Amino acid sequence: MINGHTQLFGIIGNPVEHSLSPAMHNAAFAELGMNGVYIPMRPADLAEGFRGLRSLGFIGVSVTVPFKVAIMEFLDAVDPVARNIGAVNTLLFERDGDHCRCTGYNTDWLGSNQALGEELQLAGATVLILGAGGAARAVGFGLIEAGASVFIANRTEAKGRALAAQLRCPFVPTDQLAELRADALINTTSVGMAPHADALPIRAELLPRFAVVMDIVYAPLTTRLLREAAACGCRTVDGLQMLQYQGAAQFSLWTGREAPHRVMRQALVSELRSRLP
Ligand code: ATR
Repeated sequence: MINGHTQLFGIIGNPVEHSLSPAMHNAAFAELGMNGVYIPMRPADLAEGFRGLRSLGFIGVSVTVPFKVAIMEFLDAVDPVARNIGAVNTLLFERDGDHCRCTGYNTDWLGSNQALGEELQLAGATVLILGAGGAARAVGFGLIEAGASVFIANRTEAKGRALAAQLRCPFVPTDQLAELRADALINTTSVGMAPHADALPIRAELLPRFAVVMDIVYAPLTTRLLREAAACGCRTVDGLQMLQYQGAAQFSLWTGREAPHRVMRQALVSELRSRLP
C-alpha cells in the first residue's frame, strides 16, 4: 500500500522505460514487507531532475545511461572507487532535519566481481575483457581490485589502448587473440544483443581456451556467445547475474538490509520473459 510513509527509490536514465531494475527492487521490497517503491524516471534536464529527487525525499536512486558521468558534478560526495572508475550508478540521500547530503557510488564493479566470482577465484585469475566502453571500465577496475590480471580487446584499437593504459593492463590486438591464454572471458560489448542475436563478439574456435565465459548482454538471456561457450565445455555466467548483484549491493546500501537474491533474480527473469516476443 502506497501511503504517506512510503519510501521513495527509483532510476534515472534516458531511455529508461526498458529498465528491469524496477521489477527487481520492487520484488525485494515486497519480499521483505517494506513500504518502499522504485520507479523509472526520465529527467528532461538532469540538474532539475536531481534537485527534484533531493527535494521530494528520495532515499536511493540508480543512475543509468547517459547520466552516469554527468551526475557527478551535482553530488555532495563521490565514493573513492566510483571516482576512480569515473562513473556513478547509485545515489544515496541522507537527511538530518533540513539538511540533505547525496553521495554517489558505483556498484557495477561489485556486481561483475560477484557474478564472475561464483565461478572463478578472482585473485590471481587472468581475464580477457572484450570492449572498452563504460561497462568494460567498471568490470576491469573491479577485477583489478580483486587481484585478477586483465587483458583488453576492442574493435576500435585506439579506444581499447586508452582503457588498457588507464587500467595499466595489456591491450590485445584482434589478430593476436589466438595467442592469448586466460581463465575467463567477459563480453562487455553489445554484440549478440537482440535483434542481432546471431552475432558473436569473438571467434567461436577461441572459446575452448576459457574456463569461464561471462556475458553482460541479457537479451536474449542465453546469448549465442554463452550457447557456444557451453557447447565447448566452458562454465557460463549470464548478463542478469551482474545486474542482479549490482542491484543487491544498491539495495543493501539504501536499506541496510541483506538483499533477497533469489527473489530479485526471479523478478528479473520473469520480467525479461514477459517482454520477449
Ligand atoms: P557501454 O558504456 O555500455 O560499455 P559504449 O561506451 O558505447 O557502451 O561501449 C560499447 C563497446 O561495445 C565498445 O567497446 C564498442 O567498440 P568500439 O570501441 O569499437 O566502438 C563495442 N561494440 C559495440 N558494437 C560493436 C560491434 N558491432 N562489434 C564490436 N564491438 C562493438
